[in-house]
Amino acid sequence: MNFTRKLLNRETFIGLFIVSLGGLGSIALGIPILGFFLGPIIQQPKEVWRDVGPVDKFKVGSTVQVAFEYSGQLQWGGSTKYTSAWLRRDSGLQFTAFAVYCTHLGCPVHWLAEPEIFLCPCHGSVFNGNGTVVGGPAPRPLFKYDVRIQNSRVQIKTEPQPLVT
Ligand code: FES
Repeated sequence: MNFTRKLLNRETFIGLFIVSLGGLGSIALGIPILGFFLGPIIQQPKEVWRDVGPVDKFKVGSTVQVAFEYSGQLQWGGSTKYTSAWLRRDSGLQFTAFAVYCTHLGCPVHWLAEPEIFLCPCHGSVFNGNGTVVGGPAPRPLFKYDVRIQNSRVQIKTEPQPLVT
């Protein structure tokens, strides 16, 4: 009895309790922080076919913006894990999908239907309807996604964005 009292008096108990709380708090904070830094290294971005709508939704010859989840984002990314592409229906079942990111420094490009060009608002790069650079500082054409038709629906194969250099 006397021995137990010596081991677990009030000061010792409070001290152990505070140290335990501190340890639990460190673990609770440390795991998400570690996950944030190590997650992108451990978890390679997946290539996934993303459904962007039925074939009939798209008119032949028109280029429209379609949204999809970006495969490289973290699960807790919220609305920031969504991105978009420019999708053109070239003919019956022939589609072309362009990344929205300019190959200069990554600003989103705009499609101008009348002159049929992609225009980057940041530094003025211009791409023709096939994504080829026709003016400005962009060093290469717009990146293209693979497109396929499955059960009369259009799917885009998302993959990591090419590095912009
Ligand atoms: Fe598009 Fe610079 S980011 S021209």
